[in-house]
Amino acid sequence: MSVHKVVKKITTHILQEMKANGEKISMLTAYDFSMARIVDAAGIDIILVGDSASNVMAGHETTLPITLDQMIYHAGSVIRAVDRALVVVDLPFGSYQGNSKEALNSAIRIMKEAEAHSVKLEGGREVKESVERILSAGIPVMGHLGLTPQSIYKFGTYTVRAKEEEEAKRLIEDAHILQEAGCFAIVLEKIPYKLAAQVSAELTIPIIGIGAGGGVDGQVLVLHDMLGINNEFSPRFLRRYANLYEVITSAVENYVKDVKAKDFPNDSEQY
Ligand code: KIV
Repeated sequence: MSVHKVVKKITTHILQEMKANGEKISMLTAYDFSMARIVDAAGIDIILVGDSASNVMAGHETTLPITLDQMIYHAGSVIRAVDRALVVVDLPFGSYQGNSKEALNSAIRIMKEAEAHSVKLEGGREVKESVERILSAGIPVMGHLGLTPQSIYKFGTYTVRAKEEEEAKRLIEDAHILQEAGCFAIVLEKIPYKLAAQVSAELTIPIIGIGAGGGVDGQVLVLHDMLGINNEFSPRFLRRYANLYEVITSAVENYVKDVKAKDFPNDSEQY
């Protein structure tokens, strides 16, 4: 039987066991209580309170504007909904790049105020000291390499990363550095599938991909993208499992129609 079917609460240790047993890890984002409740009950292994909340929930063009206070608000809402999944919370832009002490303080606020289970931060060797310092306080850390959206103004584009040998070599080195620093898992975003599979084969910790092919240890998608709530974003790696844009539009249109036609509420829908 797969590990995840018999588990009441997912821990970093269980994720390690899943990798060892070849069982793929499922991960989705969530930012609020109601969605997190559904996602958790449906059996997801990891819920990421991603800084993609900046785009999805607040309508910003990038992930940069979201604040630590706002991330704590989203994380607290998700944590209150979750019984089983491991909840990972993104450290937002500007809350950890300054120095490792600031990184630790930000991580502690997320753990204390939102009662989260772990944090995620973007970058390789440049965040090694921060990863070690956060871990020294007993806080599990997930890494994130490849396309790291907090660096969008450095990259200039959301295109596939590490296609050239030099960047690929640096990414492999960074993955090893994060593992040695103590990360319990790493997200690889939008890189060639062969490179992602190589990282997964070389490392002992789970590698979770988004746009990184099937040769890694797990997959993550942004919930609103895979549910088809956002129908403007169609990268090749995205599989849509529903078209909630159409479902919600039709429900709202019908409601408006019924109200205007004085059909809602009817006799049995009033006191
Ligand atoms: O913020 C986010 O949603 C993420 C995923 C894309 C991995 O970091």
